[in-house]
Amino acid sequence: MDSRPIGFFDSGLGGLSILAAVNDLLPLESSVYFGDTDRYPYGSKPQEDVAEFAFQIASYLVEVHDVKMIVVACNTASAAALDLLRERLGVPVVGVIEAGVRAASIVSSSSRIGLIATVGTVGSGAYQRSFSEFASEVDLTCQACPGFVELVESGEADTESARILARRLLEPILDAKVDTLLLGCTHYPFLARPIQDVMGRDVILVSSSEETAFEVRHMLEGNGLAATDEARIPSEVFISSGDCTTFGRLAANLLGRNIGNVIHVKTSTLTSGYGQRWER
Ligand code: DGL
Repeated sequence: MDSRPIGFFDSGLGGLSILAAVNDLLPLESSVYFGDTDRYPYGSKPQEDVAEFAFQIASYLVEVHDVKMIVVACNTASAAALDLLRERLGVPVVGVIEAGVRAASIVSSSSRIGLIATVGTVGSGAYQRSFSEFASEVDLTCQACPGFVELVESGEADTESARILARRLLEPILDAKVDTLLLGCTHYPFLARPIQDVMGRDVILVSSSEETAFEVRHMLEGNGLAATDEARIPSEVFISSGDCTTFGRLAANLLGRNIGNVIHVKTSTLTSGYGQRWER
């Protein structure tokens, strides 16, 4: 039994879709969520920069918050840094890409699957590699969707602008006649309504959230790290590197519940070395 929190991070609000699924499945677990809103979006940045940010944040979560596990609640960071984090951090690290591939392959009956993600994730080839490893029969059509993340971060997920952009960006996926669309960015579940409107009712939208939550449970149990004390109230901490008031308001909206105060951490205080003294 281990009551230490699980650390989650994303470029901003998107990873909350993963946090919500983990909270549902594992209500006894405490969490620390870091949204790097000062440096979002990650999807248009070089992979080396995203890997550096990921390592800084994950190290901070381990060092300062003593997290027992890291969930990389961001596809772009999973594509850029999962191996690095697994090599360098002393705690188990869970990514979101393989979970999404598993979920989509199970759901699709025609094996024609669409993938939408950030420019960085599509360009990294991480999904293409993972599909060819786990489900080589899949005919995959990939499409980057620049602009989607910004809609979520500005609280405009359910607006006419979102529908107009979705209609334009999803055209190649519609043409490919897929039966399943994998949301390969953790921000995209928050755009499910405009995306589903464009794709039509016959296409099943799949995210990696639930499958990632199962993976987290599996890793916790396998490593003897699960929180099992039912008498203990789990804690949650939210951190943003950007504007905390905006983060708190949008996060509460997306999660559909109140969250406590959001802590501010300046990105300039994050370094990628272990054993540093972290300022809060
Ligand atoms: N939510 C992220 C992902 O899953 C990052 C989006 C971004 O910052 O571009 O890829």
